[in-house]
Amino acid sequence: MKIVVIGGTGLIGSRLVNTLRAKGHEALAASPDSGVNTITGEGLTDALAGASVVVDVSNSPSFEDAAVLKFFETSTANLVSAEARAGVRHHVALSIVGTDRVPDSGYLRAKLAQETLIRKSGIPYSILRSTQFFEFISRIAQSGPDGRLRVSGALFQPILSADVVAALADMTLGVPVNGIMEIGGPEQFPMNELVRRVLRASGDAREVVTDEHARYFGAELDDRSLVAGPSARLGTKRVDEWLEESSSAAGAR
Ligand SMILES: NC(=O)c1ccc[n+]([C@@H]2O[C@H](COP(=O)([O-])OP(=O)(O)OC[C@H]3O[C@@H](n4cnc5c(N)ncnc54)[C@H](OP(=O)(O)O)[C@@H]3O)[C@@H](O)[C@H]2O)c1
Repeated sequence: MKIVVIGGTGLIGSRLVNTLRAKGHEALAASPDSGVNTITGEGLTDALAGASVVVDVSNSPSFEDAAVLKFFETSTANLVSAEARAGVRHHVALSIVGTDRVPDSGYLRAKLAQETLIRKSGIPYSILRSTQFFEFISRIAQSGPDGRLRVSGALFQPILSADVVAALADMTLGVPVNGIMEIGGPEQFPMNELVRRVLRASGDAREVVTDEHARYFGAELDDRSLVAGPSARLGTKRVDEWLEESSSAAGAR
């Protein structure tokens, strides 16, 4: 089966392409570098010719509120129109747990706009909402005016990207659910504690200050904002195992 992975060169996309190929499918890694651009429309018609499924794991180059909204609105609109013309039978997208609960975040508003365009497109679809990737934890800390890192103490439930890729591959090869499913990590942590641990493990000694008003992509968080619901699929890799494996891999280099 031909599957086009939009954002197929990114963190999730490159691993998903490898997984789908290993299962015997023709997976095309589409991105501006390979001549496929969902914003300008360049290369889309050719890339989608003969495709049964399109998976969108692209991301905006800018996370600024207006820019990220424009990216996901323009990209998704161009993509679903091209899919309708090409006769694509299943649109799969990766979104974020909490997109509908954190309206003060410009990034999460943009992901919700992406989901809405997909739901209204008329193309059979499946949306996977994931919690934050382990690989993303060190990027959560934001410096305050005094240079110290301020992080919320709200609960979150991070997950290894490879666990997300496995769930996305299952979704891609399954029937469209025409709805939203969730995946989260196997454990929940106060965000400030885990950010501190991950920074220390990478030798980053900056002070992490707990601040209940610290903003996460523009929004204050509470203990429900970013935590997956009771029916979510759970990843298997625990943070301690991941940190241990990451430090052994760094030591071997
Ligand atoms: N980070 C998290 O914790 C988290 C959690 C849940 C969900 N997500 C979602 O997961 C998705 C994938 O994230 P990621 O970290 O894997 O992204 P990433 O590594 O930043 O990769 C982004 C991909 O999008 C491509 N891209 C950018 N502009 C494009 C365009 N105009 N047309 C086509 N492709 C374009 C990039 O191609 P080039 O390399 O050629 O620029 C790259 O392949 C995102 O939608 C994000 O919202 C993230």
